[in-house]
Parts: sequence; structure tokens; C-alpha cells
Amino acid sequence: MSESHIIIAIDGYSSTGKSSFAKRIASAYGLLYLDSGALYRAVTLVAMENGFISDGKLDISLLQPFLGDLNIHFRDNGPEGNQTFIGGRNVEKEIRSMEVSSNVSPVAADRNVRNYVDGILHEMGRQRSVVMDGRDIGTTVFPEADLKIFMTADPSVRAMRRAAELKAKGQECPLEDVLKNLQERDYIDSHREISPLTQAPDAIVLDNSNMTFDDQMQWIAGIMKQKFNLKPLDE
Ligand code: CDP
Repeated sequence: MSESHIIIAIDGYSSTGKSSFAKRIASAYGLLYLDSGALYRAVTLVAMENGFISDGKLDISLLQPFLGDLNIHFRDNGPEGNQTFIGGRNVEKEIRSMEVSSNVSPVAADRNVRNYVDGILHEMGRQRSVVMDGRDIGTTVFPEADLKIFMTADPSVRAMRRAAELKAKGQECPLEDVLKNLQERDYIDSHREISPLTQAPDAIVLDNSNMTFDDQMQWIAGIMKQKFNLKPLDE
């Protein structure tokens, strides 16, 4: 990677605030933010709507013919920021629902689905400096990433944050269901055969159980300065 082309990989457990952190880093340092989980969620939505998932199992033979033509992408939607689209349809809200959260991990465990998503991520990472968040960015998608961060936090803190997020979007859900979902996803994501969630040996661990967003930005500012000699754009 050249000095002007930077790839930052943020991986970690469910609901550790990877996306919010990655978004803030992208806007502070002028990088493109890529939410790999949104791509897995969008594929899951397609599979659910077409009846390709039953009893929590994906029938990949039914989904496979659709994958090439799905046209899942991100679009800057003005004040709403980057939104996930399937063709011309904005699915940003639907892909964050608990129904999609309950089905996404088995879908993301499929090799064909992972190849499809990796293709999109590789293409975008080639074009621009990016900060990507997910489960396997620093281990599989961009093992040569310039900076790898592995995020973790206490499960009860994570469940409270995610429940508050859902409530703010009008999708109230009992705390114990949210906790159960994130623990189930952590288990499936960490134990699957292909690209399991695991900490890259060269990743820096960030446990943000007791950190505010501002604490995190201060933490990353030190690393960005030291590693890339970069300051936030507004400094
Ligand atoms: O809800 P949260 O923000 O923690 O998850 P997400 O980043 O939206 O990802 C949703 C799901 O997609 C994860 O639970 C994984 O099963 C899958 N995923 C993956 O397998 N690999 C990635 N690089 C990103 C997400």
C-alpha cells in the first residue's frame, strides 16, 4: 500500500460499536467508510423475502442464481448519510431489524455469499483509502491492511447500547432478546468454518466497555498520528 492509500480494518464482536467508530474515523480523516455487515444483511433480506431460508438454514442453491445481479451498493443519501441499496431500493432500515439480525449469521457463513461480498469490498478498497468494519476484514478480506483494530466490550453493555439504538428507531425489543441475539451471532461468527471471527495477531485491541465516543476518537488520534502522521481534517 502506498502512503496515500490507507486501509483500516475494524473487526470485532456484535454491537461493539464498530460501525459508529468507523464512520467517525472516516469523516474525521476523509476516508471512505464501508460497512461489510450491511452487505451481509442485504443478502439476508433478499434470501428471507424470497423464502430461501427455512428453520434458520439458507438454501444456497436457490440464492446463488440471484447473487450476480443483486446490485447491492452504498449511496450517499444527503442528510441521511450513506445508505444501503438493493438496485433502486433503499433497504437501510429493514436490514437493521431484529428479523434480519436473527438470520444473518447463517447466511454469512456460506462460502458463495462471502465470495460475493468480498468481491465488492476488494473493488472499493482498490479505488480509495477506506475504513471497513466487519468480522474478517483484517484476517481475510484485507490481511495486508495498514491498521487493524479488534473491538470488544462487555456483553451487557453491548446489549444495552443495541437495545437503545433499536428503540430510537422505533423497533423496541426486550433487552434479553437483544443479548441472546448478539451472543448467538458471536458464537456462530466465531465458530464457522470459513473466515471465522478471530483477532488478527497484528490487531490492536480496543475494549470500549467504559469509553465514550470522544475517548475513542482521542485513542485513535494518537495511533493515526504515530502510524500515518495524519491529523483530523478539522485540526
Ligand atoms: O449488528 P452488528 O453491527 O454487530 O453486525 P454487522 O456488522 O451488521 O454484521 C451482521 C452479521 O454479518 C454478523 O453477525 C456476521 O454474521 C456477518 N458479518 C460477517 O460474517 N463478516 C463481516 N465482515 C461482517 C459481518
